[in-house]
Amino acid sequence: MPKLASLLTAHQAMMRHTRASELLSDPDQRQRPLSFELEGQLFVDFSKHPINDETLELLMRACQEANLIGKRDAMVAGDPINTAEQRPALHMALRSAPGQRRYLADGEPVSDTVEAVVQQMETFTRSLTSGQRVSAKGQAFRHVVNIGIGGSDLGPRMICQALRPFASTGLELHFVSNVDPSELEQTLSKLDPAETLFIVASKTFTTQETLTNALSARRWLEAGLADSDPSALGAHFVAVTAAPHRAADFGIAASAIFPFWDWVGGRYSLWSAIGLPIMLAVGAQGFRALLAGAHAADEHFITAPLDQNIPVLMGALSYYYRNYWGAASHAVLPYDQNLDALPAYLQQLEMESNGKSVTAQAVPVQDLTAPVIWGAAGTNAQHSFFQCLHQGTDTVTMDMLAAATSQAQDQDQHQILLANFLAQGQAFLEGQDQALAKKRFLAKGMSDEQAELAAINSQIVGNRPVTMMIYPALTPWVMGALVALYEHRVFVQAALCNINPFDQWGVELGKVLAKEILPALTEDKPAAMDASTAALMAKLKGWQNNRA
Ligand code: F6P
Repeated sequence: MPKLASLLTAHQAMMRHTRASELLSDPDQRQRPLSFELEGQLFVDFSKHPINDETLELLMRACQEANLIGKRDAMVAGDPINTAEQRPALHMALRSAPGQRRYLADGEPVSDTVEAVVQQMETFTRSLTSGQRVSAKGQAFRHVVNIGIGGSDLGPRMICQALRPFASTGLELHFVSNVDPSELEQTLSKLDPAETLFIVASKTFTTQETLTNALSARRWLEAGLADSDPSALGAHFVAVTAAPHRAADFGIAASAIFPFWDWVGGRYSLWSAIGLPIMLAVGAQGFRALLAGAHAADEHFITAPLDQNIPVLMGALSYYYRNYWGAASHAVLPYDQNLDALPAYLQQLEMESNGKSVTAQAVPVQDLTAPVIWGAAGTNAQHSFFQCLHQGTDTVTMDMLAAATSQAQDQDQHQILLANFLAQGQAFLEGQDQALAKKRFLAKGMSDEQAELAAINSQIVGNRPVTMMIYPALTPWVMGALVALYEHRVFVQAALCNINPFDQWGVELGKVLAKEILPALTEDKPAAMDASTAALMAKLKGWQNNRA
């Protein structure tokens, strides 16, 4: 075992019996800061973790041995760090305005090109809100349906939901991603074709789900606007893509195509024109504030010392718990209903990036890679899976998030939400002592035997690793900063495991097989299938025939 790994193993063996609640009041063990603030807008607190100065020293050494700084600087420099595809990963360039940090792709500065597309988005947004661009019926567009999947859906969908209180344009945004026809049909059933615009969002413009839904949407429009001039239907479609020629082949006018670039990974693309739904919902100012928040997080990631660097600590701790505490999953728990979609967004960001088994040099990875990301909004989650977090046998690491003030009117009711947020954080830290519990049960009048039994059952060990994240209010700036911190957390984990977080070969096999299986399902064409799949298909077909 490499030296550092054995030191971390020995350290974990000691720390697992060390209570974070006691470390909190032990300045000898904790001289390093464990709480950090980003521009007074985001406060991240690691103090509830069972970690001490030695944990951080070992993790900083791990960062050094993994050449984290070198890898980060290579990303900033636009080097082709996506080794499998020989591309840079320059999502940070999308939120660096002209005059801010200078990013280069293939040796050329990109900020002017990036800014030009943001301005194209602004002009387009104005054309809709001013009524300059109208539907085939001459009506103003009121509904916008984003058709995309994965990175072309989850980011804008999550941010639009999070920033609903900032909606300023009067346009109503809808999202359709699944090839399951139910989603498109249910969405369109509420809409009038005469006032509905579609964004077809796909980096590659080859994705089966997106192209299928786009074709169905076009049929729906043609049927609904049959009495209109067919050439006017083009006004209802725009595309966002890194393959503009394919969008043109699909029939979308060149002026309605918003480009982005192959140096933007799909799951890192919400800052590009993939974020058009966000701008259409919250306006140009809101979108630029989102970019500004992300840029502030980038600058922090690039310049803060590693041991005071929020995403470095987030990523390094995640690596530590995954590899040395056996934490196979990480729960994201926003005490913020508007962040309900954050766990789903982070699932793609982290699991598609880091769910890998080989290193960047294509040899088997030595470490355990991505944990399973999951979660749900509090307080709902308290009434579903929190029991398992408090008393289950697995170590689950957690992030809890909350705003000081609500975007809703009722700030008094918000205090109840916050009280639960703080209380759960405390319960994860302190747990419930068996002896104290027994005293309480005895005081309630239970017999000694009953009290003993109840106390055993109600014992909560605590010492659960939880990061607390708070912000004054969930604004566009805060959203930008938050999401960028998570992106960098993923980068840090990948650097520590020495994997490439910017490819996703694992999702290709299923796509290829689905393309082979479809003709077997619909046209009885032969396809290479295992016996189990063949039997399932036969059963499905039997039921389909019965229905027909
Ligand atoms: O799920 C695989 C994937 O390639 C994701 O990485 C990507 O975000 C998604 O499909 C959609 O791809 P596209 O934007 O090219 O349609």
